[in-house]
Amino acid sequence: MKQLSVQNHKLTEIGIGTWYLGEGSQAQTNQEMAAIKAGLDQGINVVDTAEMYGNGQSETLVGQVLKDYQRTNIFLISKFLPSHATPKAMKKSLEQSLRRLQTDYLDLYLYHWRGGTPLAETLAGMQALQKAGYIKHFGVSNFDVADLKALLALPGGQDCFVNEVLYNIQSRGIEYDLLPYQKSQGIACIGYSPLGSSQGHYLDQKPILAEMAAAKHISVQQLLIAWVLRHHEVITIPRSGQKAHMLANVAAADISFTADELAQLDQYYPAPTHKQPLEII
Ligand SMILES: NC(=O)c1ccc[n+]([C@@H]2O[C@H](COP(=O)([O-])OP(=O)(O)OC[C@H]3O[C@@H](n4cnc5c(N)ncnc54)[C@H](OP(=O)(O)O)[C@@H]3O)[C@@H](O)[C@H]2O)c1
Repeated sequence: MKQLSVQNHKLTEIGIGTWYLGEGSQAQTNQEMAAIKAGLDQGINVVDTAEMYGNGQSETLVGQVLKDYQRTNIFLISKFLPSHATPKAMKKSLEQSLRRLQTDYLDLYLYHWRGGTPLAETLAGMQALQKAGYIKHFGVSNFDVADLKALLALPGGQDCFVNEVLYNIQSRGIEYDLLPYQKSQGIACIGYSPLGSSQGHYLDQKPILAEMAAAKHISVQQLLIAWVLRHHEVITIPRSGQKAHMLANVAAADISFTADELAQLDQYYPAPTHKQPLEII
């Protein structure tokens, strides 16, 4: 699997999403842990979680999985809620996340989405955590261009590592302005919900997807993941609680498209031609 260089890190272009994992029965949780392990064993080195997911249950599950792996081989991401965006509340959130994750640092701590706390205060909180060694990097999620510009205008805001946003074949608005802006500023992009989230709820699966997938002898989900990776610019973080799906998703990294296939998909899922407000799930 290809790796993208972000600052001094080599991150696999497929990471592991973990929303809704760890919330079911013990048997289900065991199955989800096996799925994550299968992904890590295939070489994935990015894991994405958040204090919000299952009120910490996702972090707890990730912590149990990571016990069996060399911590320094994993790029571990978690997020704090907008209601915890002051330096004091953020520190408390991080301490709880670290406890659940059974680790003493995060590789990346994200501001989950922008709330009412002055951005300078939130930035100061993230910088303090970084200086203290609790987090290697900080970043944001669900920031549109104006939000990012406001962050980058603050002293030290340019150290923002990543902006994690919705990106799939249907939700392409970021291609118009946000993605080019991030590239110009050296801020990596993680695209979430490549499959349209749970049961593809946020993605209208037009017949072209099944038709093209069948012609390529792949699944629709593999097509959707491969589509996000087509330019090797965005890290995608599909979530699966099933080992077979995880392995299929990893295999999607090797799927490519002809220019004609991409043009066909563009007809049904067109690239943006004007500014669209950032979509959020
Ligand atoms: N920063 C943010 O605000 C934000 C927002 C949303 C999501 N995220 C992150 O992005 C991650 C991914 O997004 P998501 O969880 O919304 O959804 P997603 O990855 O787009 O889709 C997950 C759904 O796809 C199914 N699936 C996965 N692989 C499959 C395969 N090979 N074949 C068939 N079905 C498959 C899963 O079911 P099975 O479990 O049965 O495979 C699940 O129902 C999240 O888990 C989270 O880490 C971040």
